Amino acid sequence: MLEARGLNVAYGDAPALWDVSLSVGKGELVSVVGPNGAGKTTLVNAIARLLPIRGGSLWLDNTEVTRTHARDMCGRGVAIVPEGRKLFTGMSVEENLEMGCYRAGARRFRAETLERVYGLFPMLRERRMQAAGTLSGGQQLMVAFGRALLARPRLLLFDEPSLGLSPKIVEQVFEVIGAIHAEGVSVLLIEQNAASALALAERAYVMEGGRIVSAGKPAELLAQPHIREAYLGLEQG
Ligand SMILES: Nc1ncnc2c1ncn2[C@@H]1O[C@H](COP(=O)(O)OP(=O)(O)OP(=O)(O)O)[C@@H](O)[C@H]1O
Ligand SMILES: [Mg+2]
Repeated sequence: MLEARGLNVAYGDAPALWDVSLSVGKGELVSVVGPNGAGKTTLVNAIARLLPIRGGSLWLDNTEVTRTHARDMCGRGVAIVPEGRKLFTGMSVEENLEMGCYRAGARRFRAETLERVYGLFPMLRERRMQAAGTLSGGQQLMVAFGRALLARPRLLLFDEPSLGLSPKIVEQVFEVIGAIHAEGVSVLLIEQNAASALALAERAYVMEGGRIVSAGKPAELLAQPHIREAYLGLEQG
């Protein structure tokens, strides 16, 4: 479904990604884990086409999208839940949900999809007239999640959804990500919370210093001492 081949991305003269290749199969849930500054946000923003790609190529369903506009990525069924949620804090929950981009055909299903989002996150219905800025971090994430779902995406990109949330909320959020994935949506989950991300993923990549340094099934990655120590705080054995 999604394939990145040898991506290079830079901020001005400062390179941030070197030769990054990864793929997400149709209906697959893939995680990218890595420490602060590894380039995870750069990668997901380049895939969403919010950052220019300097080298390499990006493919969606075997069509090259290396230079496709972000708006058209949404049109092709790719939606993002960005780092820090990026809500309009002075606008209501429902207004924020409606700011989601619309994939061709999604608008027709708007009322139905909105109902589905409120079904997944009942608290958003109760607070639909409330300003988004007055919600807790977990509730704000649900708004960003719901906004992405309104596009009826085929591929959902998450950039550190767990950041700043309590373990209980993180657990709920990951449950909903799993449920959306179970409906057939492909997911690319970027996380610093490696334990949760690897528990959910079918396949994962480890990123460090702007490069992919390891890839494989979560069990294979968890068997590597370096990954156990660096990402899970576990000693060998
Ligand atoms: N807007 C920017 N301008 C210049 N450099 C940037 C910019 N955004 C990120 N960088 C640099 O690019 C590198 C990768 O940053 P990025 O935000 O992609 O990492 P990350 O893995 O998402 O980190 P975090 O876990 O903190 O979110 C870092 O060295 C960072 O300083
Ligand atoms: Mg980041």
